[in-house]
Amino acid sequence: MEKIVSLCKRRGFIFQASEIYGGLNGVWDYGPLGTELKNNLKQYWWKVIVRDRDDVVGLDGSILTHPAALKASGHVDTFTDPMVDCRTCKARLRADQLAEKNGTKQCPNCGGKDLTEARPFNLMFQTQMGASADPASIAYLRPETAQSIFVQFKNVLDVSRKKLPFGIAQIGKAFRNEINPRNFTFRSREFEQMELEYFCRPEQGMDLLAYWLKERIRFYEEIGINRKRLHILDVPDKDRAFYSKGTFDIEYEFPFGRQELEGVAYRTDYDLQQHIKSSGKTLDYFDEETKERFVPHVVEPSAGVDRTVLALICDAYDEDSAPDEKGKMETRIVMRFHPRMAPIKCAVFPLLKNKEALVAKAREVQALLRSHMNVFYDEGGAIGRRYRRQDEIGTPFGVTIDFETLGEKGEELRDTVTLRDRDSMKQERVAIKDLVETISSKIR
Ligand code: GAP
Repeated sequence: MEKIVSLCKRRGFIFQASEIYGGLNGVWDYGPLGTELKNNLKQYWWKVIVRDRDDVVGLDGSILTHPAALKASGHVDTFTDPMVDCRTCKARLRADQLAEKNGTKQCPNCGGKDLTEARPFNLMFQTQMGASADPASIAYLRPETAQSIFVQFKNVLDVSRKKLPFGIAQIGKAFRNEINPRNFTFRSREFEQMELEYFCRPEQGMDLLAYWLKERIRFYEEIGINRKRLHILDVPDKDRAFYSKGTFDIEYEFPFGRQELEGVAYRTDYDLQQHIKSSGKTLDYFDEETKERFVPHVVEPSAGVDRTVLALICDAYDEDSAPDEKGKMETRIVMRFHPRMAPIKCAVFPLLKNKEALVAKAREVQALLRSHMNVFYDEGGAIGRRYRRQDEIGTPFGVTIDFETLGEKGEELRDTVTLRDRDSMKQERVAIKDLVETISSKIR
């Protein structure tokens, strides 16, 4: 894991937030490449879940949330983790994650065994709205994106005129005051979720749970996650939310252990019923054909953006060997991102930077590709070193403009370039006019 964390910082994927001030625990900033990777992931999720389907529409709800909404959802009273204090080093710890030695729980910081009784700690961040500081001005930063979907259910139904089953999808920030943020970005205090609430008739719930589990596994395969590192946990009755009739956790084998990436849960009609009770408003559905009025049930695939980005990074990291400038084999770090997810799709290199005609042609090729994909231009250093820099950030294709391109080695090669594949390191000659389609077909 240290190698991955170090690469993330060195190459600009992920930085500690407020680093120059000593860092903010459990909060992360995404650098230039991390931002691209994260955007690729979110855009692909949105495409698959919303754009490619007729039965799902989007929502972008607010982060600041009315306390009544989160009281109704149960978050104000029960969104807690059990917390203990270590009396020796004063650390605050999550009681359910403490290691035991000889049957006694221990502080992971100092090894102390003098711990307080566990007490519930509410994970929500609370803030004040407006200038007055009375209890009526309390608002919360949302702990999940889901609740704004339930609260807006009726509005979205009215404007979209969807028939059951249909879904409302959302990507956005959520905040949890985790007691022990850890494992890099895995457990953060500020993170993003990609959630779909898929509303249905009660009798469709279990089948749709199975359907969405399959769809979501397919998604992870499509973004390049190794299927062998994905696991499905059928959450047992005793560990499921009391209102859920079935929940699957999709887990990934991180270097620090097998951990949840996404939950796919059949939440019944619990959330809508809670908001009906608390708001006094009708959040039901009228079936034109059967003339029935009822409260829909919901199946929820809920994924973490940051966790998936971390899984993409862990899954892509590889070391192999490649020849250096003198032909001597050296270790090559290569991020084997699926081209669809790769932050930069193609790097463009003039063979030499002091040959005007090569540079001009390379700039021309960069301009040609730029409107179709994220392209990086690099003219600094030996070509082998430039390839290596791109391998380390997972750029799947490299285009080199050489003397053949200029027609200096025969007219038949004029306006062709070498296209290098990151994984095989093989190079092929491609006409500039075919570049866009050759690369685009692999990154869609
Ligand atoms: N609406 C259901 C819900 O929020 P959850 O299992 O609490 O369910 C869903 O969260 C997903 O959000 C998780 O599978 C995980 O990917 C992500 N997530 C939750 N807490 C997180 C945290 N502290 N840091 C990063 N991601 C988190």
